[in-house]
Amino acid sequence: MTMLHYPQYECEFDAETQEFYDGVVDMFTGIREGHIGRYCFSSARSDNDRVRGDEHWTRFIKTSAAYYPYRHEIEIIRHAASHIGKLVSDAHTFIDLGTGSLNSFERKVLPIIRAGKFKEITFVDLCTAFSEIATARLKEELADIKTNTFLGNFFNSLPMPQSKAAINLFGITLGNIVVDLPNETPEYALTRTMKHFAAPLKEKGGYFIFDYDTNEDESSLHASYEHPSYHAMELTILDRVKRDLPTSNFDPDDFEHVTVWHQRWKLLAHGVRAKTDLKFSIGPYQIDVPRGKFYRTGSSFKYSDVTIEQVAENAGFRKLQVFSMPGSTMRVAVYAMRP
Ligand SMILES: C[S@@+](CC[C@H](N)C(=O)[O-])C[C@H]1O[C@@H](n2cnc3c(N)ncnc32)[C@H](O)[C@@H]1O
Repeated sequence: MTMLHYPQYECEFDAETQEFYDGVVDMFTGIREGHIGRYCFSSARSDNDRVRGDEHWTRFIKTSAAYYPYRHEIEIIRHAASHIGKLVSDAHTFIDLGTGSLNSFERKVLPIIRAGKFKEITFVDLCTAFSEIATARLKEELADIKTNTFLGNFFNSLPMPQSKAAINLFGITLGNIVVDLPNETPEYALTRTMKHFAAPLKEKGGYFIFDYDTNEDESSLHASYEHPSYHAMELTILDRVKRDLPTSNFDPDDFEHVTVWHQRWKLLAHGVRAKTDLKFSIGPYQIDVPRGKFYRTGSSFKYSDVTIEQVAENAGFRKLQVFSMPGSTMRVAVYAMRP
């Protein structure tokens, strides 16, 4: 990688684009890895925009037979929702982190909201379309409930509830944490993340409802993401590079999305692999990429039950109940803040 000095590339970005630019440049220049996965949910800004991550995700979960985390989680929640509602029945506020598609909201979150006694629901997402759809659907069913939207990266910032709350994180999103490998372990980074989710619950008390996957079978993990809509969603990160950043000779079609399993970290790495030798620039950075070079954009970490319990305890939580179903590696867990 060489640095070009072209003053015309010294652009001013808004804060969100600056963060995206820094993340992309750091990945292509080898400074950081696995930190730009969240941009795969980016939305279109015009009719002919290729950036359509939210739409690809919605199509993926609707049409993929192999993506067991989604189907199993729905099945587990179908049986557990009323029980979960009882476990968290003194929570006033429900904070849903990353609601996703309408189908997912109706089948995973609504059953728990119906079973609980929540007076207020807050949707936190970086994709406005997902929060808007869920808000409209909720209003249809519970017109009097108060709703709020909090736009942003929930791994960095969270709303501060004024009363006892249940924070909810589904879609095995807890597996998407950013870990500075190999300088820190996934367990260390997970503890940091759990403490981050515990912080808003410290004052008034509350619950953390989340799912995780214990699967370590490499072939079924690869197979679960083998779907054209999933590949398109991951490659939308590069579509966004092309759309939002100053590039020359950069073509998202020169890359393909692949997954790589690292048993040592229990990590299914998501990334982009160059289909040919490439030379392109982003801002002042000239990037030379040999054919076959893999860049890790994001991560799906898998956790054992023991790891989750230890890490959650370290962060100040107490296990209430973990739900699963026969033959499934998926878990839906309910933890409470320790007083
Ligand atoms: C894997 S999908 C899960 C969707 C849904 N909860 C489900 O269980 O099917 C992740 C969701 O979280 C949002 N998201 C992912 N990373 C995020 C982040 N760091 N900050 C805020 N929202 C994020 C995405 O836009 C999407 O709505």
